[in-house]
Amino acid sequence: MIFQDRVTIVTGASQGIGEAIARLFAREGATVALLDIQKDKLEALAASIISEGGKALALPADVTRSDQTAAAAAAVLKACGRIDHLVNNAGITRDGLFLRMKEEDWDAVMAVNLKGVFNLTKAVVRPMVQAHYGRIVSLSSIAGQMGNPSQANYAASKAGLIGFSKSLAREIASRNVTVNCVAPGVITTAMTAVLPESVQKTFLDIIPMGRFGEPADVAAAVRFLCSEDAAYITGQVLGINGGMYM
Ligand SMILES: NC(=O)c1ccc[n+]([C@@H]2O[C@H](COP(=O)([O-])OP(=O)(O)OC[C@H]3O[C@@H](n4cnc5c(N)ncnc54)[C@H](O)[C@@H]3O)[C@@H](O)[C@H]2O)c1
Repeated sequence: MIFQDRVTIVTGASQGIGEAIARLFAREGATVALLDIQKDKLEALAASIISEGGKALALPADVTRSDQTAAAAAAVLKACGRIDHLVNNAGITRDGLFLRMKEEDWDAVMAVNLKGVFNLTKAVVRPMVQAHYGRIVSLSSIAGQMGNPSQANYAASKAGLIGFSKSLAREIASRNVTVNCVAPGVITTAMTAVLPESVQKTFLDIIPMGRFGEPADVAAAVRFLCSEDAAYITGQVLGINGGMYM
């Protein structure tokens, strides 16, 4: 178990990639602090992790609300005394061609995908710097690297995370806090289940591995970036995309 005595915050933990990360980190011995707006699912996940012998805290919170993210981080510090890893995973899409994209679709995506990461990171970075230890991993996307029609808002937010992470990485590398992104391609979750079959086929045609990724593929990469093996890796973007973008 590589994360014994470590404490990990995972946002957007109640399903999909976040759930896979939470379960994997708990199996590796971490205490996982789970944040999401879906309170019931979050509490069920925490109970399930605990029933399997893991350590979990359910902290219902909206990442767009800095008062809630600050309170959640304070609750983790009070309960566990430390925060070793932050996985900024909460994210949403509001897809549509740009000509028809509404201002509220732009704002909603920026609020969760970008401001949410600001809020959580702000809440944990000081204790990490003081402890001279930390790992921050944010879920960017292949859309932020290569663009995607109907996702100007989403791609902008995910590209924004790359610039954010590289800048913060430069600021706090000397304090032994690393800041990286993972950039998944098409992963089978609720977010991609809504894609029309024709769009799914178009993606499959350009994925050299000929399949979509699984949440476990992403969780394994996040585990690596939070591990001691990745101690000298910061400011990087790790693609998990079956070769779709290289
Ligand atoms: N699925 C993919 O193909 C894919 C590809 C690239 C990147 N990503 C990114 O990976 C992350 C996880 O995606 P997923 O596919 O598991 O999505 P998902 O929709 O299954 O899960 C997202 C989670 O975020 C939570 N969330 C949404 N708004 C929130 C808020 N304001 N505060 C707290 N939690 C909130 C949701 O309740 C949900 O549990 C996202 O950031 C997504 O952009 C996904």
